Amino acid sequence: MHILLLLVLTIIRLAGSSPPPDPVWCSNGMSDCTVTNAGGSFSDRGICRAANAAYPRTEQELLAAVADAAAAKRKVKVATRYSHSFTPLACPGGRDGTVISTRRLNRTVRIDAQKRLLTVESGMVLKDLIRVAAAAGLALPNSPYWSGITIGGLLATGAHGSSLWGKGGAMHEYVVGLRIVTPAPASHGFAVVRELGADHPDLDAAKVSLGVLGVISQVTLALQPQFKRSVTFVPRDESDMAEQVALWGALHEFADISWLPQDRKVIYREDNRVDVSTPGNGLFDFHAFWSLPADQIIAMGVEERRMEENGTGAARCSAAKYERQGHFFTNDGVSFTGYPVVGYQHRMQASGACIDSPDDGLQTACFWDPRIRGPSAYISGFSVALSRAPAFLADVQRLRDLDPTAFCVLHSSIGVSMRYVRASSAFLGKAEDSIYVDLVYYRSDKPGVPRAHADMVDELEQMALHKYGALPHWGKNRNFAFEGAIAKYPKASEFLKVKDRYDPDGIFSSEWSDRLLGIKGSPSIVEKGCAIEGLCVCSDDSHCAPELGYFCRPGKVYTEARVCRFYTPATRISDEL
Ligand SMILES: Cc1cc2nc3c(=O)[nH]c(=O)nc-3n(C[C@H](O)[C@H](O)[C@H](O)COP(=O)(O)OP(=O)(O)OC[C@H]3O[C@@H](n4cnc5c(N)ncnc54)[C@H](O)[C@@H]3O)c2cc1C
Ligand SMILES: *[C@@H]1O[C@H](CO)[C@@H](O)[C@H](O)[C@H]1NC(C)=O
Ligand SMILES: *[C@@H]1O[C@H](CO)[C@@H](O)[C@H](O)[C@H]1NC(C)=O
Repeated sequence: MHILLLLVLTIIRLAGSSPPPDPVWCSNGMSDCTVTNAGGSFSDRGICRAANAAYPRTEQELLAAVADAAAAKRKVKVATRYSHSFTPLACPGGRDGTVISTRRLNRTVRIDAQKRLLTVESGMVLKDLIRVAAAAGLALPNSPYWSGITIGGLLATGAHGSSLWGKGGAMHEYVVGLRIVTPAPASHGFAVVRELGADHPDLDAAKVSLGVLGVISQVTLALQPQFKRSVTFVPRDESDMAEQVALWGALHEFADISWLPQDRKVIYREDNRVDVSTPGNGLFDFHAFWSLPADQIIAMGVEERRMEENGTGAARCSAAKYERQGHFFTNDGVSFTGYPVVGYQHRMQASGACIDSPDDGLQTACFWDPRIRGPSAYISGFSVALSRAPAFLADVQRLRDLDPTAFCVLHSSIGVSMRYVRASSAFLGKAEDSIYVDLVYYRSDKPGVPRAHADMVDELEQMALHKYGALPHWGKNRNFAFEGAIAKYPKASEFLKVKDRYDPDGIFSSEWSDRLLGIKGSPSIVEKGCAIEGLCVCSDDSHCAPELGYFCRPGKVYTEARVCRFYTPATRISDEL
């Protein structure tokens, strides 16, 4: 019996591979499938199901897959090679839908070096796209910092790097054309390819589409001649941060900011374009994206849970070792010898070492690999209009002053990370030039377990979203953040008109996308313990965990916030008097 068990375990272990698993898994060839995300757990901890999966290799096969679903009025949705979005965006509606993976649609279609245009299939991973562009002497001017995402997926959620210069930090600003497969009447064979050029009015819908318009088959990007960048990180105290944040992005093309609230320190990234003849072969290689030995990942998870159970800010603050040397940049790909770090755009803009780590039977992996019990994190990301950023940050400083050590729960190597994004013509893009804020913090792998200092993080998020009108990143966040989000997009109704034309039966829409777009239902799920899971904002103690001492209470600086706060019986009485 025991030997059998051991044997089974060994087989499972050997069957593993180190590159991340496919988020689509079918128990029966191409049918009876489940879809998850890169971490193996959507924001609502659900797993979604699909009746079947398709892996088209060509646009023709893609067209056939969409036609099949449309003819049967079956729900359908795209999943990608890794599917990194936190909410269940990649889930087809219901349980009987089709999931179309773009994993095999990852070729270069065309490069026009003269016109600096690159056309790729939508499943191409950002890392490959950057490499292909560089090989042709071209540069993608801006991109997300994590290169393990696909062009189709990152466009769908409005993903970005950081810049207020030129077209700005969002990747959809560099799209000058795309081909999208949408459902069509029977007379047209149930599916058609629509080609949207730079001046096509629907491009503003299709550039950031949440995947509800159809399947993007190919994307054409306007690139620039290869260039180099020169990066220096400048640490300062935070005394003038609120004003600096509004100015810094205008001063440096690739500016960003990391704020360590617990230390009252700010690290400004001074990052500008320099001539390609400037010496230097720098490299950005973010350590959180390295491939790590499985036992180290497991140890990291154990340590995370230990600090969480300790519950004091002090435990996390003492673990806060901010890597100051080089900030994950090296001057030559090996070692950091000093600022500035000068290097080619394609080596500086994004990193993602773990995605193409060798297949070694799961001895090494990305730290979030769902097959290894390592640490698990939430990423909340939202943008605040630049004009409101100083007041917002001053409020966050007030919140910090009440309990600085509580802020150590924000992962200490990054703290509060801030990037710049420009206003966009995309209907679901940013309406104003903005500062974009990321918060990374512990997520329990068990549902319903309260987090230490969750009241502070939740107040901060509610303050941003509701007092300062912040827009949540479509690909990150917990459910509650999307409550009322669509009403903040002045052009949402134009987006919905295009959706009605492209997909009148809503086969590309799901329960979740209908909630996001305000079509049906609300993004919040109100139930027992929902605020602990980030599914709702609490309005009743039962939405927290009263049996564990967590009660629904107002925020401390933004008193309209409602957060789950921990009380021992004694502190509860004194707080209420
Ligand atoms: C570790 C990490 C780092 C990140 N870093 C950044 C960052 O620096 N900047 C940033 O802005 N974001 C960042 N993100 C968020 C990320 O950009 C989004 O989650 C992005 O959507 C992921 O792309 P994906 O290819 O994994 O798409 P998925 O999550 O698989 O898909 C997203 C949506 O796009 C749809 N879709 C995908 N392809 C197509 C297609 N061809 N046609 C139509 N619809 C399609 C899917 O159906 C789904 O609705 C990060 C996320 C993680 C986990
Ligand atoms: C497409 O994906 C395959 C499999 O992951 C990979 O080997 C190949 O290099 C990718 N192609 C391009 C052009 O990046
Ligand atoms: C929590 O961590 C702090 C700092 O590391 C330590 O002094 C304290 O003893 C820990 N408490 C518990 C209950 O583990």
